[in-house]
Amino acid sequence: MSELSIFSVSLAHSTGLTHMELIQKSKDLNSLAKQIKSERKTIGFVPTMGALHSGHLSLIQRARKECDIVICSIFVNPTQFNEQSDLEKYPRTLEADSKLIESICDYLFVPQSVEDIYGKEITLKEFDFDGLENELEGEFRPRHFQGMANVVSILLNIVTADKAYFGLKDYQQFKIVERLTKLIQLDTKIVGCPIIREANGLARSSRNELLSEAAREAAAVIFYSLNYIKEFHPFLSIPELQEKAKGMIEGIMDVEYLEIRDAETLKEITSWTENNGVFISFAGTIDGVRLIDNIRI
Ligand code: PAJ
Repeated sequence: MSELSIFSVSLAHSTGLTHMELIQKSKDLNSLAKQIKSERKTIGFVPTMGALHSGHLSLIQRARKECDIVICSIFVNPTQFNEQSDLEKYPRTLEADSKLIESICDYLFVPQSVEDIYGKEITLKEFDFDGLENELEGEFRPRHFQGMANVVSILLNIVTADKAYFGLKDYQQFKIVERLTKLIQLDTKIVGCPIIREANGLARSSRNELLSEAAREAAAVIFYSLNYIKEFHPFLSIPELQEKAKGMIEGIMDVEYLEIRDAETLKEITSWTENNGVFISFAGTIDGVRLIDNIRI
């Protein structure tokens, strides 16, 4: 038994992993993927940064339904954080995460180090996403999407999955990853999965845990105002809708943006008809916690 397997087994016992196997080196994961493919089985891949909740679980469950083998990764990717303090604060709950997914996931990839993913020195590729990366979140989190795309491209190359699952909660991320697979000519199909919400409509997020009970209730106003736009869009102009919806949220939260955008180009729309479908995107803070959400029309 290799040193790694002994470590994995002992971690498996300490974390209660039973069926699911832990993998900690990208080269081991790549060999495993090759073996699975040689057996003509399909691979579904769910990349995450951990602190798993029902939103993540829904992606794993979808992969479980559609693919023979399910691989999930947990890697808090340093290159997609703008602030060092945010990276350090990011919740790391491997033990609880493992327990949550052990019955629905076959392999959990937790890289043993940043070096295992990026090599000795981190050199980021610069992808051209036709400006998608500069809209909305891109304005508030410069370089975030380049960092995200770099790690996703590395992971997709290691796993060579048939399908990879992404939440529509991060709609802009999903569109960029779709574009990425075309740029790097990967065969992996990118599947967008519906947003999982709490009972009051608040989109599930690891950050919700940081909110007080009162803030968590109050943040329901986000979904309410997004739905207001959806319902009233045949009757009011785009600026009117935006102003009314923002008005509902302001006073409860600080609004960073509430934008009505083309669902493909992510650019502003001027009419409801000449576009590829519409998505309404929100970012704001409450209790010092930044939340994002969106709906599509
Ligand atoms: P993370 O924030 O952990 O999210 C992992 C996946 O879960 C993403 O595809 C995200 O959209 C999805 N997700 C989160 N909350 C959801 C919800 N309420 N409903 C449905 N899906 C939800 O996104 C990342 O990690 C990283 O950027 C990553 C892609 C792993 C690259 O580092």
